[in-house]
Amino acid sequence: MSLRHFLTTQDYSRADIDALLEQATAFKRSPRGQQLAGKSVALLFFNPSMRTRTSFELGAFHLGGHAIVLSPGKDAWPIEFRPNVVMDGEAEEHIAEVARVLSRYVDLIAVRAFPKFQDWSVDREDAVIKAFAQHATVPVINMETITHPCQELAHALALKERFGDLTGRKYVLTWTYHPKPLNTAVANSALLIATKMGMDVTLLCPTPDYVLDERYMAFGAQNAKENGGSLKVSHNIEEAYRGADVVYAKSWGALPFFGHWENEKPIRDAHKHFIVDEAKMALTNNGVFSHCLPLRRNIKATDAVMDSPACIAIDEAENRLHVQKAVMASLIAQR
Ligand code: CP
Repeated sequence: MSLRHFLTTQDYSRADIDALLEQATAFKRSPRGQQLAGKSVALLFFNPSMRTRTSFELGAFHLGGHAIVLSPGKDAWPIEFRPNVVMDGEAEEHIAEVARVLSRYVDLIAVRAFPKFQDWSVDREDAVIKAFAQHATVPVINMETITHPCQELAHALALKERFGDLTGRKYVLTWTYHPKPLNTAVANSALLIATKMGMDVTLLCPTPDYVLDERYMAFGAQNAKENGGSLKVSHNIEEAYRGADVVYAKSWGALPFFGHWENEKPIRDAHKHFIVDEAKMALTNNGVFSHCLPLRRNIKATDAVMDSPACIAIDEAENRLHVQKAVMASLIAQR
């Protein structure tokens, strides 16, 4: 049997996802356990984190396991990922050794590796986590690369806690302004999970340049078809917000501008009005608002929205702890 990883929710059926969410709900009710007793997880961060690091470390501890945090290039050796290269650059060791050595020490390897933001055709290959999955002999967990599947589960759980069955709920994924071009990972993931839950999903963004990668648009359309929902793109704020049950916000860089962001800046700067505010939320069906966090207040969403009862971003952040316990426990249980 091939080794099962947690790299993308697209590798998991709707029934698999529902089972993970059920297990997460059980962990939320009863946070301590021994599912990881005597087990360990290596958490490799190539990029900063607050929620992911804290929730994975604590989650392992709550289940009797041990987490080791490593930052390659900072407190661990820089790693080479390209095959068959003469390693005369910065990297001191190759993923072929790193992944196999870690697999001799730990039972799970979790990786955060953002895109380089220079060439989307390169970044979309997700080479770092794929190399870990190729060389490791233990399960690998995605802690955010070009998708963020743990965030997806936390988001879905927060929505199910508010609405119960999500089928047919009107869901808006809205681009928002941010001074810097950010990763598309959470936006890709929002499309994947919202369509997998059978919601009627609108991707609201300033121009066609901000539509997400065709791979995720296609997965979204396929998920919608299989789960009774729909997926459409809109550039009309009022039309998208009207009647929405869920507003999920994220900023991301437009894919055609990877590597020459100076040309994207005028477009980005012209769409600061995509901020989530009370007037837009008033168009919704008494909808909820969420965001993966971190969030710049009064840039992506106003204080009034963040501090309103409609905001479930803190619930979603808490749920990271519960869903990641479910992911780690289920991967360990299958070994
Ligand atoms: N949402 C999320 O992954 O938060 P961190 O970047 O703080 O881990």
